[in-house]
Amino acid sequence: MSEIYLDYNATTPVAKPVREAVDVALKEKWGNPSSGHRFGQKAKKALECARAQVASLLNADPTEILFTSGGTESNNLTITGVCQAMSGKGRHIITTRIEHPSLMNPCLHLLEQGWDVSFIKVNSQGVVDLMEVERALRPDTVLVSVMLANNETGAIQPVAAISQLVRKHGVLVHTDAAQAVGKIPVDVKNFGVDYLSIAGHKLYAPKGIGALYCRIGAPLGQLMFGAGQEQGLRPGTEPVPLAVGLGVACDFVAKDIKAEAERQTGLREKLYAELSKLGYPIIRHCDPENTIPNTLSIGFIGKNGAKILAQAPEIMASTGSACHDREIKVSHVLAAMGVSPKVALGTLRLTLGRGTTESDIEIAAQAIGRALTKG
Ligand SMILES: Cc1ncc(COP(=O)(O)O)c(C=O)c1O
Repeated sequence: MSEIYLDYNATTPVAKPVREAVDVALKEKWGNPSSGHRFGQKAKKALECARAQVASLLNADPTEILFTSGGTESNNLTITGVCQAMSGKGRHIITTRIEHPSLMNPCLHLLEQGWDVSFIKVNSQGVVDLMEVERALRPDTVLVSVMLANNETGAIQPVAAISQLVRKHGVLVHTDAAQAVGKIPVDVKNFGVDYLSIAGHKLYAPKGIGALYCRIGAPLGQLMFGAGQEQGLRPGTEPVPLAVGLGVACDFVAKDIKAEAERQTGLREKLYAELSKLGYPIIRHCDPENTIPNTLSIGFIGKNGAKILAQAPEIMASTGSACHDREIKVSHVLAAMGVSPKVALGTLRLTLGRGTTESDIEIAAQAIGRALTKG
């Protein structure tokens, strides 16, 4: 049985040049970067080279890149660290109803600690309305955090416009770019953000490494206390081979990012066209002109996404909701968009990547077609 992986938003395989570079680093750059001797300095050089590669992908300065363990840590560090640093100015933050749990949950934790959090709405296309952000702004607002691309629908948020609006009021801006970096060009200066989160395993690097862009001069409180690595903000001996992997992954995706985006958009549209021809009523959740190139989220009305995937085991993909004890648990993202439980239950998230071929798309569409006839 062929295996078709259409779950690149969950994670990506490690790219060959990344694997090779990690392997060399594991063998040859295992010194502690804080050691003054030659082995330590060799590791330090590799770490700083990786930092420069990450910075280059984002158009940032290398001193603005902090290595973390991934997207979750970058999001937690920003939300908690910024709020800690800014609590003297105000205790209100703004975010959205469609954020990843690694952003949503630290915000809920702040609520419990007496902060005010505004979770702003999105429209039926899964996009935040600028007016809603403006309405939520208050004199005590210290941070606005809006993801760049949603992990379930792929919808791209108007982060540059939001930054332009709120920075005039002296409010800091964070974006969780875990699903955007490596898929579309991301330039921190164009977006005008103060903080930006990256997850290595979404862009062909290994799991366990990520980064936080923190603009020079942007305040960030310390969550962990240790020996002062990563400007004291993320102490602990640096995982040099993983950082090397992230650096090489950044170069790997940068070299043909636009051509690859076009290729994946073409394949995604082919997949959508094939699925539309199957003869079942479907709803496409977001505007394809405003989604990251690899993501197709569609609802088969009246069907059950989990059952479709169970009947098509050769396809590895995700659903948009789950059925627990006969109760439909709609994903918070689809719920925020106002998608009905009947459509949400039949939703599939099909996400393509660099390994996806035209033949994968044909096989996947046929397999989904067969699965649909079974119930
Ligand atoms: C948008 C978004 N943010 C953050 C994360 C968390 O990243 P990590 O798995 O590296 O902790 C994910 C992972 O699914 C994500 O999709």
